[in-house]
Amino acid sequence: MATQLIVLAAGQGTRMLSDRPKVLHEIGHAPMFAHALASGAVLEPERTVLVVGHGAEAVAEAAREIDEAIAIAVQEEQKGTAHAVLAAAPALEGAGGDTVVLYGDTPFIRPETLEAMKEARAAHDIVVLGFEAADPARYGRLILDGDRLLRIVEFKDATPEERAIALCNSGVVMADTATLLRLCAAVRNDNAAGEYYLTDIVALARSDGLSATVVLCDEAETLGVNSRADLAAAQAAFQARRRAEALANGVTLTAPDTVFFAHDTWVGRDALIEPNVIFGPGVTVETGARIRAFSHLEGCHVGAGAIVGPFARLRPGAELANDSHVGNFVEIKNARIGEGTKVNHLSYIGDAEVGDGTNIGAGTITCNYDGVSKHRTEIGARAFIGSDTMLVAPVRIGDGAMTATGSVITSDVPPGALAVARARQETKPGYATRWFEKLKAAKAARVKGH
Ligand code: UD1
Ligand code: CA
Repeated sequence: MATQLIVLAAGQGTRMLSDRPKVLHEIGHAPMFAHALASGAVLEPERTVLVVGHGAEAVAEAAREIDEAIAIAVQEEQKGTAHAVLAAAPALEGAGGDTVVLYGDTPFIRPETLEAMKEARAAHDIVVLGFEAADPARYGRLILDGDRLLRIVEFKDATPEERAIALCNSGVVMADTATLLRLCAAVRNDNAAGEYYLTDIVALARSDGLSATVVLCDEAETLGVNSRADLAAAQAAFQARRRAEALANGVTLTAPDTVFFAHDTWVGRDALIEPNVIFGPGVTVETGARIRAFSHLEGCHVGAGAIVGPFARLRPGAELANDSHVGNFVEIKNARIGEGTKVNHLSYIGDAEVGDGTNIGAGTITCNYDGVSKHRTEIGARAFIGSDTMLVAPVRIGDGAMTATGSVITSDVPPGALAVARARQETKPGYATRWFEKLKAAKAARVKGH
């Protein structure tokens, strides 16, 4: 049976005090709503509808970047969650099966939880995801009779007895698509907020002779982001989960609390991540690699057995082949570093291709930018780049070639050749001694003259 997914993301998020729509604030370098979409993806939805309102164009744009197939529904005015679901109705025209409603600002619903809701649907018409709140605060309260959900009462409309209930509504709902839309259309806004509450569909369903039930999840899953403090808490929760996953997958983290992952970081087993390593988006680290302390990686691939850092920076397009070494204060951008190749100290390698088994000396720089365009540097296999070589791109260094320390290389070096591009040394015996004697004598004369 097909499943449809609606993600509600039209709200303003006033308490964020932001010019950016709330759901575009990022957790692990992915916009918040992308996490909700990723949770929903476990149900393999036939159609996914994102309901946008505040910052509609920017949110829609971000959604298209994630998946062109996501349908965008615009809710011009935010009149409540049932009204938002109805905004998605045209995009669900003719869609069968069940629909699941998720919130774009509730990023951590686990796939297993949605699976459990699907199972519960076998026996009930509507399944609501609930949780026991440590502090129920302003959440909607679930009114149960055994395992039957009678109705949901919003905090604003609740009696003191109802407010004493700790069982709360997460907002996630699953029901037959046609039933859900029909019930939402029947919702009235005669409540304290003057809004069309999605939560009202439970009582409406019951008066239609349909049944509703609750699936419970951990409160951590239903964490909703309404403020910067919530966002920080969400980041912390995300990192905690990713660290635990890495450890469970056979990755060594010597100080887990200091390592920061992105939503798509992939680390192979037996890799070792030292303290204070930061992953931006798009990083893969193969098995047995070692990322040493204080390194920053984004958009890069680290091959098996490679060693990175400490204090290395791998920028987008850095491709480190197996067993290569990138050491301290080295920056690599849009460059392939060959197998077993070493760039161990204080270098910048950008827009380059470096072959296997090559040694790049300390302080080497690929001068890739002429102020207008970027140019490429190609270095062959088993080459030896002397310390402090400036490689002025475009330039090629052949296999097994060598550059002398301190050279400024402006033309190609053929395979096996040595290029020396620096002034020849001149040595003047005794000159330094005489020079300093002269300076000291001049100073002594000045002091005496005073
Ligand atoms: C909602 C639930 C409440 C539940 C809580 C859990 C209702 C009426 N109440 O309350 O029972 O305990 O979530 O966090 O559903 N949205 C739209 N368009 C609208 C209104 C909201 O897209 O017109 C979106 C928001 O962007 C947000 C989500 O729906 O992603 C929830 O809306 P919000 O106003 O935050 O609902 P709560 O008052 O928190
Ligand atoms: Ca909310």
